[in-house]
Amino acid sequence: MDLKITPLTGSVGARVEGVSLDSLSDEEFAAIREGFLKHQMLVFRGQHAKPATQIEFGRRFGKPVVTAMLDPLEGHPELVQITKVDKETTATEAWHYDAPFVEVPAKISILSAVTVPNGGDTMWSNQYAAYERLSDGLRATLDTLKVRFRGIRLARMMKHTGEIPMAVHPLVRTHPETGRKALYLGHRENACIDGWTQEESNQLLEWLYAQSVVPDNIYRHQWAVGDLVMWDNRCTMHYAVHDYDEQPRALNRMTLEGEVPA
Ligand code: SIN
Repeated sequence: MDLKITPLTGSVGARVEGVSLDSLSDEEFAAIREGFLKHQMLVFRGQHAKPATQIEFGRRFGKPVVTAMLDPLEGHPELVQITKVDKETTATEAWHYDAPFVEVPAKISILSAVTVPNGGDTMWSNQYAAYERLSDGLRATLDTLKVRFRGIRLARMMKHTGEIPMAVHPLVRTHPETGRKALYLGHRENACIDGWTQEESNQLLEWLYAQSVVPDNIYRHQWAVGDLVMWDNRCTMHYAVHDYDEQPRALNRMTLEGEVPA
């Protein structure tokens, strides 16, 4: 097997080389799965994955699910195309997990780069490390809290006029496959600690966000056409940088059904 997995930072992310997602053996898949659980997000350069390849690869990890309020890509109901949205209204230029505002949030997201601008990078943070760096005393308190997540920013971006999805999840969730604990945070209007005022909640959540995304806890990816990147929403947050003005940007995204966070 030529497959090689190399860490991209000391904290989160790894590059996978020596493999074609068009013809993946079971042995290669097992190595990718192990690397994914270890590094939380993986980068495959130069794959140029057609929708069918992306879908088949994703299905090996779980059942496709389309995020509430997003429209599937025509001809490929398992995919959504993430395209340029005005900087003022985009919901993805903020640290977030995909769809924490539903009862069963997506566990994994997979992006395949179709059109990339100069800029438009995406960043990921390690939410295990964000939790593990805190003191025993604070961790014990956070372990008892829940967050009320709402899909307000996504609804605004999608001009969604129906009911705003909402779900309550633990602020610290245990990864069902690794057994490790990770912070599961919400942001400002999108989230409030259950039983706290919005103002009280903002103070703590903003502080936890700031601790989560310190430079030594993130990986920043510069996209090239043909890249495929996958990440674990149970233990990472991500942030799409909107610094590319009028240039087009399009990435096909697949998300996989997860578990009720616990
Ligand atoms: C997302 O938030 O799922 C999309 C990330 C990106 O556009 O880079």
